[in-house]
Amino acid sequence: MSLSNATDIDVLVCEVGLRDGLQMFSTPFPTSEKLAWIRAEAAAGVREIEVTSFVPPKLVPQFVDAQEVVEGALAMHGLTVVALVPNLKGAERAIALGVHKLNYVMSVSRTHNLRNVRREREESLADFRRIAELIRTLPQERRPRLLGGLSSALGCGYEGRIPVQDVRRWALAYAEAGADEIMIADTVGYADPVHVKEAFRAVMADVGPVPVSAHFHDTRGLGLANVAAALECGVRRFDASLAGLGGCQFVPEATGNIVMDDLCFMLDAMGMRTGVDLDKLIAVREIVARNLPETPLYGALARAGLPQNYHRPHTAAV
Ligand code: COA
Ligand code: ZN
Repeated sequence: MSLSNATDIDVLVCEVGLRDGLQMFSTPFPTSEKLAWIRAEAAAGVREIEVTSFVPPKLVPQFVDAQEVVEGALAMHGLTVVALVPNLKGAERAIALGVHKLNYVMSVSRTHNLRNVRREREESLADFRRIAELIRTLPQERRPRLLGGLSSALGCGYEGRIPVQDVRRWALAYAEAGADEIMIADTVGYADPVHVKEAFRAVMADVGPVPVSAHFHDTRGLGLANVAAALECGVRRFDASLAGLGGCQFVPEATGNIVMDDLCFMLDAMGMRTGVDLDKLIAVREIVARNLPETPLYGALARAGLPQNYHRPHTAAV
């Protein structure tokens, strides 16, 4: 079902702006425009898109249209449709609709987990185990991939620095519970490249064959430097959001994700194939701009354009 193991790309990029970006906005982004964004970005070559979040609509009204968005996205051929789920109930809703991949969220920081999902980390893990069990009861062709997300893993607005030992502990717990993928997220942009290498190397050694992906925010300008560090560790899956939308309403200083357009340019310039057409990707920003006219859009590639006589290299340098 998922195209994550495709061999014609070197790095998988996943668009998260429709979830991580839009959850910040109380004004609804029209459903038809969400679908236009998804369609245009998929046509630009982005293969995975986190299209919505299965949280109580009372809590995050932006996702009241989760069902329509998922149904529309599932009709787009070749796209891996991803959704965030914070608990078993969210997973049940997503599975009933046939979402391809569930991004389960818990925080390594105890305080952030209590604020974000209102429970202890042990309770979050117990719910993750229930979701993994539920998935195992489904026929093979209906089983979504299950990602174990570790938010606030490289720093926390409440607790400050998070020990790498804690990240390892919860990553291992996810692996033992049957995660198909583990994501290390720097929710508030505290990480630096040295910290990234230490955490990813340790976790990747612990969890062996389970792929580890990275979710960086550019809060302090180190987002792409952190990507380069993670690439050196062997990470080949990255979240990003078009024009750098993003944040977390439970962490006031959390700002945007790394900019998808700049990420794709950097990977392309380094000779790593993403499958994304940069010109088409830049053009998708217009859909975000027309729906969020008051919101600043980030991105150096969009501002400066491609270098003169830019030719995409064909051999990977990393
Ligand atoms: N989708 C829809 N409804 C849900 C739900 C879900 N995933 N999870 C719980 N509910 C409903 C319950 O059925 C219950 O409804 P009722 O009042 O009609 O009986 C109500 O919400 C409260 O349920 P409860 O299990 O007590 O949840 P909670 O109030 O402790 O909240 C979370 C827990 C996880 C649902 C909530 O904290 C949450 O969604 N957090 C995520 C926040 C977020 O989006 N963060 C940013 C992403 S990192
Ligand atoms: Zn995030």
